[in-house]
Amino acid sequence: MSRIDALLRAMTLTEKLGQLNLVTANQAITGPSTNAAIDTSIRAGEVGGVFNLWGREAVSATQRLAIEESRLRIPLLFGLDVLHGHRTIFPAPLAETGAFDPDLWTRTARAAAQEAAEDGVSLTFAPMLDVCRDPRWGRLIEGPGEDPHVASIFAQAKVKGFQGWDLRHPGAVAATVKHFCAGGAATAGRDYAAADVSARQLREIYLPPFRAAVMAGCAAIMPAFNSIDGLPMTAHIALLRDYLRNELGFDGVVLSDYTAIQELIEHGVAADRVEAAALALNAGVDMDMVSDAYLENLPDALARGLVKQEQIDAAVRRVLALKEKLGLFDEPFRIATVDAHNPEAAHNLARDSARRSITLLTNHNMLPIGENMRRIAVIGPLADAHMEMLGSWSAAGRAENSVTILEGLKAALPMHDIVHTEGVSLAWDDDRGVAEACELARSADLVVLCLGEAAYMSGEAACRATPDLPGAQQQLAEAVIATETPCVIALTCGRPLMIGDLAERAGALIATWFLGDMAGHAIADVLTGAFNPCARLPITWPRATGQIPIFYAQRSSGRPPDETNPFTSKYLDTPVTPLFPFGHGLSYGAAALENLRLDKEIFFADEKISVAIDVICSGKYARRETIFFFLRDPVASVARPVMELKHWRQIDLAPGDRKTISLTLGVEDFVFPGVDLKPTAEPGAFDLLVGFSAAPEGLLRASLRRAMRPNTA
Ligand code: NOJ
Repeated sequence: MSRIDALLRAMTLTEKLGQLNLVTANQAITGPSTNAAIDTSIRAGEVGGVFNLWGREAVSATQRLAIEESRLRIPLLFGLDVLHGHRTIFPAPLAETGAFDPDLWTRTARAAAQEAAEDGVSLTFAPMLDVCRDPRWGRLIEGPGEDPHVASIFAQAKVKGFQGWDLRHPGAVAATVKHFCAGGAATAGRDYAAADVSARQLREIYLPPFRAAVMAGCAAIMPAFNSIDGLPMTAHIALLRDYLRNELGFDGVVLSDYTAIQELIEHGVAADRVEAAALALNAGVDMDMVSDAYLENLPDALARGLVKQEQIDAAVRRVLALKEKLGLFDEPFRIATVDAHNPEAAHNLARDSARRSITLLTNHNMLPIGENMRRIAVIGPLADAHMEMLGSWSAAGRAENSVTILEGLKAALPMHDIVHTEGVSLAWDDDRGVAEACELARSADLVVLCLGEAAYMSGEAACRATPDLPGAQQQLAEAVIATETPCVIALTCGRPLMIGDLAERAGALIATWFLGDMAGHAIADVLTGAFNPCARLPITWPRATGQIPIFYAQRSSGRPPDETNPFTSKYLDTPVTPLFPFGHGLSYGAAALENLRLDKEIFFADEKISVAIDVICSGKYARRETIFFFLRDPVASVARPVMELKHWRQIDLAPGDRKTISLTLGVEDFVFPGVDLKPTAEPGAFDLLVGFSAAPEGLLRASLRRAMRPNTA
C-alpha cells in the first residue's frame, strides 16, 4: 500500500480536513484577518500548511510540532509570496517582463527559490499570471503585462525557475500560479471587483498563460478573488473543474486565496460557511487559505449531503501527493540539506536583471550623461528612498540592502559633484521645497529628477483611480524643467503613469519601475552609458486615464479611427494612440530592420513557413535588440485583433553589425477560438508584421496566404 493510501486509511475526518487547512503565521501580514493558536492546531493535526513564516529556526520549530507532536506526523508545507526574489530582491515582475528574456525570468526565479528554500519555504504563491490592460489595478506590477503570449512564455519560464526539474531538489519550491483567472480584468481596475469577461476573452486572453503553466508542470493553482459573470472563481465549476481538471488534466493542488472561501458569503452565492465550504470543494478547491471553513464547516456540509467523503479524500490525496513530490515525508527539514547559495552571484544577477528591466522611453540627445555634465542635481522624493526601490511583495528583502538612485550615481561617478534635495515628499500635496529644488537645479549641469510612486502604491489593495504623479511631484517636475537645466526624469512606478507632457518636455525619460536591491547601480549603469538600455514595454502606456483599457491587440470595429471622419471610433479630447506603444523602448544608438522575407507566400494548412529579417546596428553602441513578430488575420469567421504577437527574438549587435533573424511559423500560430470557441485555423490571407514595437508606422509587412490542400482522394 502506498504511503498516501496508508495515511488516508489512518486519518480521522479532522485530520483529513487539517491537511486542507492553510494557515497564516503572520511574520508578514498579507490579508485582513488571521488564524488563531496555530501551534495548538498543528499539534492536533488540524493544519496542512503554514504561510507567512520563514527562517530556518522558525520553520524548523513549527515543522517539529507537526512531525514530533501530531498523531500522524505529516509534515507541513511552508508557503510564501516570493514574487521577485526572497532575500535578494530582483525587479518586480512587470519590470522584468520588459527584459523579454525567458532565460533571465527563469534564472531570477531559480535564485529566489534557492534563497526561499534555504529559509524553509517549500511552496510559493507565484508567479502571478494575470494579463492586465488596466494601469489602475495595483497588481499590474506583479504580472507580465497585457499580452497573453508573453504571459504564457513568462509562465513557463517562472515555473521552470521555481520548480527546477525535480521538486525534490532541496533548492526547488512548488509554484502556485495565480490568480486563476481574469484577476487583471477587475471592473474599473479595482482589486477584488467582479470581472465580466466573455467566454472568448477567456479563451483568447486569460486562460492561455495558465494552460502554459499547467503544461510546464506547475504544482499548484490559486483561484482569483473575483467573480466572472457572477460566479466567484473560488466556486467556479466550469473553470476549476471542467477546464482545469478535465480539459487540461491538472492534477496538482488548487488552493484558495486568502479567506476567499469565507468570502463566498459576501459575494452572494453562499448563505453560510457550510455552503461556502461546500461550493469551493465541489468546484475543486483543495486547500482553504485562512478561512478555517473546511476544517470547521465541511463536517456539517457532509452531514447535510452537500459534499461527499470521496471529494474530501481526493483533495487530501492531492495535498499529500504534493508533500511527497517535495520529498517532505523523507526530509521534512529539507532546509537542512540546501546548499548555501552564493550571495555574490545573486547580487550580480540582481544588478543585471535590474538594468535589463529599465525602459528608456524618450531621449532627446540627453543620455548617456555627457563628459561635460560635472555637477548633477539628483532631485525628488525617490532619489534616496531605500524602501521604495524594492516595491511590493518584497518577501524577506530588507530596505537597507537596497541601493538608491543617489547612491548608485555617486558610486558610478565618484569624481562628479553630486548634490541632492527631495524637493517634495512622495505623496503630500506640499510644494514648499520646490523653490529650493529649482535653485539646486539652476546650479547644476544636469538634473536627474526621481519621481513616481511609493512601493505601497502598487501591489495588492493598491489601486489608483488617477494613476498620475502623487502629491506635488508634477509641480516639482514642471518647475525644475522650467529652469532649463537639462533634465532626465526617472520614474519609479508600478504602472504606466499619466505624466501630462513631461515626456516631451524632459530631456529624457526612463521607466525604472521597482528594480529591487540593485536599483541604484542599475539606473546609474544606464544613465552613464555603462549599460545600453534594452527593455521594451510589456504594456501599452496611455496618455490619459480615460483611454484605459488601451492595448495593441484591439479589434478594428466597423469604423476604425480616421482623422478626417468624425463618425469613427475616437475621442474628442484625446488622441486614440497611446503615449508609448507595447514593445516601445529605446537604446543608445540606432538600429533598423530590412528585408523581411518568407520562403513561400502561399502555403498549405500543415506546412511551415520560414521567415527571415535583417537587423542592422547603425549607431556607435553595441545593443541588444528585441524584434516582435505579429500576425494579422484581416478576414476570418470571427473578427480578429488588429494584430497578435506570435513570437519575439532578441539579438546582440555590435556597431555596424548586420544579422539575420530566422524563425518558423507553424499551424499553431494561425489557430484561434472559432465561432464555437473550439481551436480553429482558417484558410485565407494573412499579414506578418515585424517591428521593434507594436507602433503601426514602424512595422514591416509580408503577405501570405494559407490554402487548403486540394482533396487528392
Ligand atoms: C492575497 C493575494 O491575493 C495572493 O496573491 C497572496 O498569495 C495571498 N494573499 C497570500 O499572501
